[in-house]
Amino acid sequence: MNFWLHRCHGSLENELIAQPVHRAPGSIAENFAASSCDVSESMLGVACCLQEGSIWAVSADQTTSVIVTPLLFAEVTLAALPEGAWPDMAVVAVVPPQDSKGLKGTIIDGAENAGSLGWYVVIQGLTQAYDMLDALSGIGGLRCDLATSFSIADADDCVIGEGAYAKVLRMVSRDGSEVAVKQMNFTADYDSIEREIGALIQLQGPNVVGFRGVFWFVENEQVLFSAVLNLAPHGDLLYKVLKSGVMEENSSKPMFTGVLNGLLRMHERGIVHRDIKTENILLDAGDVPMVADFGLACYITDEAQMTRRCGSAGFVAPEVCLGTPYDCKVDNFSAGVILYFILSKEMPFSSANRDSAATMRKTVKCSLHLHRPPWDTMTSRLRNMLRQMICKNQEERLSAVEAMEHSWLVGKSKKDKAAAPLAASSEGPPDAPPRPSMSLHSEFSAMPPLEESPVALGAAESYIGDESEYSARPPLPE
Ligand SMILES: Nc1ncnc2c1ncn2[C@@H]1O[C@H](COP(=O)(O)OP(=O)(O)OP(=O)(O)O)[C@@H](O)[C@H]1O
Ligand SMILES: [Mg+2]
Repeated sequence: MNFWLHRCHGSLENELIAQPVHRAPGSIAENFAASSCDVSESMLGVACCLQEGSIWAVSADQTTSVIVTPLLFAEVTLAALPEGAWPDMAVVAVVPPQDSKGLKGTIIDGAENAGSLGWYVVIQGLTQAYDMLDALSGIGGLRCDLATSFSIADADDCVIGEGAYAKVLRMVSRDGSEVAVKQMNFTADYDSIEREIGALIQLQGPNVVGFRGVFWFVENEQVLFSAVLNLAPHGDLLYKVLKSGVMEENSSKPMFTGVLNGLLRMHERGIVHRDIKTENILLDAGDVPMVADFGLACYITDEAQMTRRCGSAGFVAPEVCLGTPYDCKVDNFSAGVILYFILSKEMPFSSANRDSAATMRKTVKCSLHLHRPPWDTMTSRLRNMLRQMICKNQEERLSAVEAMEHSWLVGKSKKDKAAAPLAASSEGPPDAPPRPSMSLHSEFSAMPPLEESPVALGAAESYIGDESEYSARPPLPE
C-alpha cells in the first residue's frame, strides 16, 4: 500500500475529516506540498485506496470504509513533495464539488463557489501519483493540466474529426499512448457536459469508447472543456464504408452485434443515446465497433430531456420526427439504418439536396423497399431483421436483446461465430490510424442535427401540423 491520507485528516479511520483548501497562488496540491514541510515527520496518516469510484480508508486489519465519494467533477491536482525532505513522494489533492448538480459548485464556477474542503493523498513514487491522478480522471475528476499532460505529435495532421459540437484532435499522453481529445465548443449548459461525461463513465466497457478524463481551461473569458478518449485506431464507421466500400452480409454481423451490444449496455443502465449514426460508431483494433459521442445521451427517467426532439435526420426514428413520446427504441431504429447503410452505402430515407424535412417525412412514412438491388441478392433473414429494426411502430421494433437473438445473427454458422469477437483482438499492434478525409466525410455525413436545423424543424412542423407539440422544446443552441 503506497497511498496514505495526510495526517492532517486524523489518525483514526472513523474520525477522518476534510481540511480547508488554499487556492492561490498555484494549485491546491502545490500549496499543500509547500506547507507540508512543517509537518513532514508525522505526515503519513491512515492508509487509503481508490476503488469503485471512491477513496477508501484501509484499517490495520485490511477492512475498508468509504471516505470520499462521489468523485465526479471533484477537482484533482498533483504536486511533488519537497525533494530534500521526501524524495519521490507526491500529494494528490481532491476537492469534491460543493453542489451535487451539474458543474455548479466546482472550480469552473469560480474559486469562491467551489468546494472549500479537500482531501490530501500522499503517494510514494511520482509515477504512482500520476497513475492515481489518471485513475481519478477516469472516474470524472476535473483537471486543468491538459497542456502538460498531452502533446500534439504532428501539428499538420492532428485534427481527426469535427462534429456539430466539437473538434477532435489526436494527441500523445505522458506514457506515449495516443489519445483523442474532444475539444467541445463553448456551452453554458453545464448539464449537457454532465450528461455526456456521466454517461461515458457509467458505460465504460466493451463496445463503448474508452474515457480517460475531462479537462477544463479558460479562453477569452469562457470556460471550455475537453474530454480525453482512447483513440479509435480505425476511425469511424462512415469513413470505413466510404473508404472500403459496402460490407458483405456475413462480415457485417460482428459489426452489427457489437453495435447492439453497445446499445444493450446503455439501455440496461437506463441511458438512451439519441444520436446513433455511422459517424458516432468508432472502430477499435480489428474493426471492433465502439459507440461514441454521448452529447445527446440522457436518462430515460429525465422527463424534461425526453420531451426534446433531437438526433440526426436520416437516422432519427419516426416518433422523434413526429414529436410523440419516445424511449430507448429510438436507438434501435438508428442502428437499423446503420445496418442498411453499411450493406448498401445508401440511406433508406434519403432525399434530393439533403433536405432534412423531406427525409423526415419519408422516415415517418417508413416504407422500406427491399425487393430491389442490392437487397434482392441478400438473405431473407437479413431483410426481416431490417424490417424489424427500421420499423415505424416502437412496440414492434426489436430491442437490443431481441435483435441479438434474431435468426439472422444466431443462425450463423460456427465458423462465423469464431470469427466474430465482441472485444478488441489481442493480436499485435493496430494498423496506423487512418487519416479521414474531411471532405469525403462531410459529403456523406448525416444531415445537421435536428436542433441545429430550424428550417427542417419548421417544415417538419408544418408536415405534422401541430406547432404546440414543440413548445416544450428547449431553445435552439446559439
Ligand atoms: N476517440 C476517437 N478516436 C478517433 N476519432 C474520433 C474519436 N472521437 C471522435 N472521433 C472523430 O470525431 C468525430 C466527431 O466526434 P463527436 O461525434 O464526438 O463530436 P460531436 O461534435 O459531438 O459530433 P456530432 O456532430 O455527431 O454531434 C467523430 O465522428 C469521429 O470521426
Ligand atoms: Mg458525432
